[in-house]
Amino acid sequence: MNGRREFLRSAATLAGAFGVNSLFERAHAAELRAAGERIAHLSAVEAAQNEDFWAVIQRSYSVNPEIVNLNNGGVSPSPIVVQEAVERYNQLTNQGPSYYMWGILDQGREPLRQRLAKLAGVKADEVAINRNSTEALNTIIYGLPLKAGDEVVGSLQDYPNMMQAWRQRAERDGIVYKQISFDFPIEDDDKIVAAYEKAMTPKTKVVHITHMVNWVGQLMPARKIADMAHAKGAEVIVDGAHSFGLIDFKVPELGCDYFGTSLHKFLSAPIGTGMMWIAEEKIAKVWPLTCNAEPHSGNIRKFETLGTRSFPLEQGIGEAINFHEAIGSKRKQERIGYLKNYWAERAARIPRVKLSTSLDLRYSCAICGVSVAGMTPHALATALFDRYRIHTIGIVYENISCVRVTPHVYTRVGDLDRLVDGLGEIAAVVKG
Ligand SMILES: Cc1ncc(COP(=O)(O)O)c(C=O)c1O
Repeated sequence: MNGRREFLRSAATLAGAFGVNSLFERAHAAELRAAGERIAHLSAVEAAQNEDFWAVIQRSYSVNPEIVNLNNGGVSPSPIVVQEAVERYNQLTNQGPSYYMWGILDQGREPLRQRLAKLAGVKADEVAINRNSTEALNTIIYGLPLKAGDEVVGSLQDYPNMMQAWRQRAERDGIVYKQISFDFPIEDDDKIVAAYEKAMTPKTKVVHITHMVNWVGQLMPARKIADMAHAKGAEVIVDGAHSFGLIDFKVPELGCDYFGTSLHKFLSAPIGTGMMWIAEEKIAKVWPLTCNAEPHSGNIRKFETLGTRSFPLEQGIGEAINFHEAIGSKRKQERIGYLKNYWAERAARIPRVKLSTSLDLRYSCAICGVSVAGMTPHALATALFDRYRIHTIGIVYENISCVRVTPHVYTRVGDLDRLVDGLGEIAAVVKG
């Protein structure tokens, strides 16, 4: 009875998963803080290689040890503490959905908005909480007041859901959607900025940038592109699906006007959570994608009339932020970049093996494309799974043909050794 009363009390007063009663505080905080203190004297680069620290992080996840999951670029698992929070909120919800969901858990949204805003380095009144990058960015793409003849510049290497949204706008409203194309990897910011600049005309109203390209993990010089675009009078949208929670940055540093991300990738928040940011002065002019009584209001909450959705998932975001902050943003970026280069540098030395991603961590971090001459990406991904139980994803798209490999904070160095050994054995027997 006591446990139940305590459960209800903590759920009611701390629905946003913050403060001393959060599951994270109870389950992990002491261990992670102690582990953090042991490496406090190390720089982020040195800490990236401290396996004792990362072993604590690895134990915080419940990934299947029989499978090496190297497709964290698709979607990432949540640490146990986040899963437990979601289960807990879900059980609470099912005791009386309309009361607990709309009456209790809903109270957690404003504190959560504050926490997300702090993480992103923006004002809480500029942050909308939603379900994923697609929802965030489609809201912006469909919501911007553009007219026939207005031009938008994006790239063929942007994410399909955004390209399709722009194409739909072109068909419906007569806007002109121009797509440039890149041959990645590129280790030259000016070249990338120049490509966008060349495609712009006086009619260009929007430049759409994918901060970290999903296909091969190229990290784009968002700030430089944004500054160039602004100087020419265009607004800038950044798709931060892969960068948020991975790269150590604050949204204002990108110099953009609009930003959308999923939280279920590198932040490890519950699957089905996302965030949209719009610069304060631009909110009023963007139409909400779903209905709202005041569509022209400058209140960011007008974008959250999403109908019935999972409040347990949403509230689980708070525990993911706790977990992320306990690791530390910079440390996390350095660790994942280290893991990527750990395997990629070794793989690059294997005959027939080719990388599609830069080894320079100014242009890449988690994601790296790899291929074996004489093998299709699908055949390589299948061989890695069938023979080594390594899960990756084969990509054949436009000018890209590779297997995409994406480690996360819970990835073990030994698993990457298995990947490199596997690539070596597979490449050694390819004919042709
Ligand atoms: C660059 C990029 N943008 C957007 C998305 C869409 O994310 P979601 O499916 O969470 O909406 C993805 C998904 O992988 C992505 O890689």
